[in-house]
Amino acid sequence: MRSIRRCLDDFPTLHQTVAGGRRLVYLDSAATAQKPYPVIEVVRRFYERDNANVHRGVHTLAERATEAYERARQAVARFIGAPDPACVIFVRGATEALNLVARSWAEPRLRPGDEIVLTLMEHHSNLVPWQMVAQATGAKLCYVDLLPDGTLDLESYDRLLGSGRVRIVTFTHQSNVLGTINPVREMVDRAHQVGAVVVLDGAQSVPHMPLDVKALGCDFLAFSGHKMMGPTGVGVLWGRRELLEEMPPLFGGGEMIREVYLDHATWNDVPYKFEAGTPPIAEAVGLGEAVTYLESLGMENVRAHEDEIAQYAVQRLRAFDDIRIYGPLAQPRGGVVSFNVEGVHPHDVATILDREGVAVRAGHHCALPLMRWLDVPATVRASFYVYNTAEDVDALVAALHSVRAIFSRVQK
Ligand SMILES: Cc1ncc(COP(=O)(O)O)c(C=O)c1O
Repeated sequence: MRSIRRCLDDFPTLHQTVAGGRRLVYLDSAATAQKPYPVIEVVRRFYERDNANVHRGVHTLAERATEAYERARQAVARFIGAPDPACVIFVRGATEALNLVARSWAEPRLRPGDEIVLTLMEHHSNLVPWQMVAQATGAKLCYVDLLPDGTLDLESYDRLLGSGRVRIVTFTHQSNVLGTINPVREMVDRAHQVGAVVVLDGAQSVPHMPLDVKALGCDFLAFSGHKMMGPTGVGVLWGRRELLEEMPPLFGGGEMIREVYLDHATWNDVPYKFEAGTPPIAEAVGLGEAVTYLESLGMENVRAHEDEIAQYAVQRLRAFDDIRIYGPLAQPRGGVVSFNVEGVHPHDVATILDREGVAVRAGHHCALPLMRWLDVPATVRASFYVYNTAEDVDALVAALHSVRAIFSRVQK
């Protein structure tokens, strides 16, 4: 097993200086993760040796490319505990996966008055597609409330499920703003009791914790490759086979067909029915390698490491009397810590931190309804991954002292 303590050596981007010679402290993995050498190498090797289109040619390179692409599908299936690799569909990212379910599964089925249950902590990618479906079908969007600590109000969830009209429940496994980890199994069971289909947004959970779709019981799972050390431009929709079989393809084109006539066509099997055109081949191969890399660290270890760092960050940030942290302070929470410094705009905080070599994200984090609930325009977000250390948190804290020093000077 690879050691998390030593894995920093595997990430070339993290071995550079920025901001006039300062060590780069990368605390923005919730936006996108850095890539380890094995992933970079496998993509390079693919283009150097195996580059060809998949499922088309019978020549050697075409066979190698196809084999590598399908091996990546198997690796991803294994990683999420999916017994059938054919239920792993390669798409461009979590956003495309969620749109695919919304458009292809939900839109043809929903009728006026049917209800879609979401939460107030959704990323726009798991919000706007459902708004579009609701507009197209006359279905109603219903939101689970949050408790003051940024966890879901499960009583409000039960009340919504009690309407008898809920067809779809969709929510994020882990909030990209609050770090809240939602009780998926419990929520899935309650949704299934009322006959709803559950769509889980795993963009912030699949990269960070052990996850098994059988144990979670969800019907669909969406996630992105780039947030889990894979390349950009590839992501996954996993779905239960019966549901995938029922869904029409979203895009028409090459590879997704069985027969084409002048006036109609018939569809290929799952998953190819959903993979029209040339797929992201090298990207999928890179994602397969990222999965293998994460497995070599052990997902239990990944989760434990991030937990330790996030707890340490929360503890150090709480020592500032002018910093407000959003989201649960206690367990379970993920490796995302959002906060604001009193009297300083988050963009100013992020700019000053950047000058100290500390990369964080400031903004609404594609969660505007949540920002309104928090009653802030934006937050600063530090997000952690396996390559972060307690030293990185110390660097963040030291840089926050600079923010305070600069702003107290400005205010005088
Ligand atoms: C919770 C959540 N869902 C969905 C997405 C969308 O992912 P992508 O932009 O890779 O499609 C993100 C990205 O930040 C996210 O944090």
